[in-house]
Amino acid sequence: MATTEVSITPEAVEASKKAEHISDPCVVVIFGASGDLTKRKLLPALYHLEEAGLLPQEFVVLGVARRDLDDSFARDMRDGIVQFSGVDPNEPKLNGFIGKVHYHAMNFDDTAGYDKLKARLEGLDQQYGTRGNRLFYLATAPEYFADIIDRLGDKEMAKPGDKKTWIRTIVEKPFGHDLESARELNDNINKVFDEDQIFRIDHYLGKETVQNILVFRFANGIFEPVWNRNFIDHVQITAAESIGIEGRGPFYEGAGALRDVVQNHVMELLSFVAMEPPISFEASAVRAEKIKVWRAIRQIPVEDTVRGQYGPGVVDGKVAIGYRQEDRVNPESQTETFAALRLEIENWRWAGVPFYIRAGKRLGKRVTEITIQFKQPPLTLFQENDGPCGPVIEPNIISMRIQPDEGIALRFGTKVPGPQMNICPVNMDFSYAAAFGTSRANGYERLLLDAMLGDGTLFAHRAGVEATWSLMTPILEAWKENPIANLPNYDAGSWGPEAADELLARDDRSWRKL
Ligand code: BG6
Repeated sequence: MATTEVSITPEAVEASKKAEHISDPCVVVIFGASGDLTKRKLLPALYHLEEAGLLPQEFVVLGVARRDLDDSFARDMRDGIVQFSGVDPNEPKLNGFIGKVHYHAMNFDDTAGYDKLKARLEGLDQQYGTRGNRLFYLATAPEYFADIIDRLGDKEMAKPGDKKTWIRTIVEKPFGHDLESARELNDNINKVFDEDQIFRIDHYLGKETVQNILVFRFANGIFEPVWNRNFIDHVQITAAESIGIEGRGPFYEGAGALRDVVQNHVMELLSFVAMEPPISFEASAVRAEKIKVWRAIRQIPVEDTVRGQYGPGVVDGKVAIGYRQEDRVNPESQTETFAALRLEIENWRWAGVPFYIRAGKRLGKRVTEITIQFKQPPLTLFQENDGPCGPVIEPNIISMRIQPDEGIALRFGTKVPGPQMNICPVNMDFSYAAAFGTSRANGYERLLLDAMLGDGTLFAHRAGVEATWSLMTPILEAWKENPIANLPNYDAGSWGPEAADELLARDDRSWRKL
């Protein structure tokens, strides 16, 4: 299977150690630990950090959930690490790591239960030397976030006892379901935790290829001069998934594509593509530039939005049921499994350059890509061009492949050998796998480590989350007021509803074939 990130190489491990990128002793407390995320992503990520030597000796994981699991939790996590990151089950390091994985059963709204949790954590500090440092990870359903946060505050578990100790909290998405609820959640959290203790996670920011957008733009001299309205015709961002909702009916019914991936993952990608160079790579400098991008986006008119829902079809050669036939989904559901938007960023760099976004489930294939399409040269010199690639000279494109087959390609016209001046497009390709090899990393490694190190650069922040919700909320409201009659409007395995093609055709453009 193709993976998203390149490996943490021995050189990188050495460099990190040199830069002291090894976490302080700590307990990682995962609320909602019996859910899929812990087994599929969090524990494999923590194990990779352990393997790479980036965790201290004094380190413990405490899973917290309602079910009575005890020892079976550690066993289940062991299976998860083996299954989801291909680790050899006989690897001796794995046993050592699993020995540090513990479980604590409690109800999140049981106030007295937090006294017991506190005592358990103090016991772990004694046993493992974790010195009172805590990383709370809120991986529960979002309705429990407030319960947990309030009680951590009431029981004085949210503020460190002295200056050497730290307490931080990672909050999983979805961070609110509209602007108002996101503000309310922010208010609740800010009552208990200071902003620098809060790490709102978006796992896209942990992907190497996403971070590489900033490196590509700001560590190279040749791209930035053309990265603007004078040279760029338009930008496309596609986040296509071939999977459906994977048994998450109740969650997805209340979410839909716009809330699930556009408000967060896609908006993060867009900010990296469009932001001005920050004055440094400090969290506050990067955040400041991202937020300027979101705030400069003109309110998106509903005519520039498209929603879709998949019906039955064929994906990857297999018959797939429609969204309305999925388990625990309303047979008349209006929830969108596909969203496309046309938006404009009203600043000096981007005025007049449309950004087209599409994201959806059960599309033709899994691919996340950013396409930068450049303007045509001012004059067509090669009038006789009519060779194997036809008379039309394709525009230059930089495509950034976020996943899978991670890499970057520059597409340009080249002369076809022969007596005529015929032109065909070719690619100059950079592939992560070819250059660095692949890895089993899943994006959470970097973010968990950064949170343990107290570096919030790759996390969402209050103002940013509210800015993206400000853009999405009016669209969600308009959609709610105007149900559409012709759902489902795309077949599973296709590239979404026709209206998404029309959105670009209106501007004489089309989606790049991926
Ligand atoms: C999650 C969404 O945030 O991102 C899922 O809730 C989606 O619906 C997933 O499938 C996509 O992440 P990735 O890393 O597989 O692109």
